Amino acid sequence: MKSLAEKIAPDAIKKLIPYQSARRIGGSGHLWLNANELESSCTYEGQQGDYHRYPDFLPDQLANAYLEYCHTHSEAIGCNAVAVRGADEAIDLLVRTFCQPGVDKIMVCPPTYAMYEFCADSIAAETIKVPLLANFQLDMAAINAQLGGVNILFLCSPNNPTGNIISQADIISLLESAKDKALVVVDEAYIEFAPQTTVVALIAQYPNLVVIRTLSKAFGLASIRCGFLLADESVMDLVTRLIAPYPVADPSAEIALAALTEQGISQMNAQTDTLITIREWFVSELKRLEIVEQIFPSSTNFVLVKFNTPTCMYQYLCSKGIVTRNQAHEPALSNCVRITIGSKESMKETLLALADMEAKKI
Ligand SMILES: Cc1ncc(COP(=O)(O)O)c(C=O)c1O
Repeated sequence: MKSLAEKIAPDAIKKLIPYQSARRIGGSGHLWLNANELESSCTYEGQQGDYHRYPDFLPDQLANAYLEYCHTHSEAIGCNAVAVRGADEAIDLLVRTFCQPGVDKIMVCPPTYAMYEFCADSIAAETIKVPLLANFQLDMAAINAQLGGVNILFLCSPNNPTGNIISQADIISLLESAKDKALVVVDEAYIEFAPQTTVVALIAQYPNLVVIRTLSKAFGLASIRCGFLLADESVMDLVTRLIAPYPVADPSAEIALAALTEQGISQMNAQTDTLITIREWFVSELKRLEIVEQIFPSSTNFVLVKFNTPTCMYQYLCSKGIVTRNQAHEPALSNCVRITIGSKESMKETLLALADMEAKKI
């Protein structure tokens, strides 16, 4: 029987033969003269390492290390992992693999991460928007009513920019109703801040579930551009036809592998605990300010704050050299600013700037 992935993928993708890079073709020998690389290492001042050869075409060691970190193995849960250049590349790959340009649709639930719609726009795929409810949970009735004809439903949990976790019962219910219709992609970029809420283990039961992860957030490795796509084999088969010939640069893979060792993971866990403590302290301090109307509960490394001032708080904070993220463009988030949690000193400075403004009644 045809998998859902096969059913919805455009014919052009199903016919696609992966680009036969030198590494994918492989071979054995003692002289490697097949990839137009320099045959010997060329090091520049201050640089370490040996980078004259192309990297792996699909770095298995990295994918396996990530599966291990997820406490899961491909054989055990029927789930595979592939490393990509950040979660953003995973989103783009999924849209290009499963949507025919100008024909197919995706669904998003705003306010949410803007890249889903951007990637769909880039190939002229329509985006159906079903706004979150006032409590930032899914509008299940509206989603179900419009799911027909949608190839990918993008969910984000914990969600950016609202910071909340999407109900797991709702995700399961959507996996059921979308079984023969759509892939349900759950973006877990912030999962380390609420690890117990991951849906990764559900991939074994729902081959229409795809999970996106990243090392950019809790692992603190945004600059190496490393993310992961976790999915059933039927999804992976198609995604890896389209993936770039060498998706992860060797220096990035090396750093990612170090982060995914037992020691790396415990360091990340300790950092995460510290960050959560600072976040909770910052929230308790914010609550004392009259200019703060609402602080939305966060399971991430940021907080969404609604102000009751006539002044644009984003601009005011910018004038003090504190750059946050304005959310005023989101209809549901007027007067809201998303503030990333930094060190205690950075959060103290932010609080001082806010208290100063309140005192001066600017
Ligand atoms: C929800 C969400 N998904 C994905 C990303 C992109 O992550 P990456 O740096 O791995 O591309 C972000 C970055 O802000 C995000 O908030």
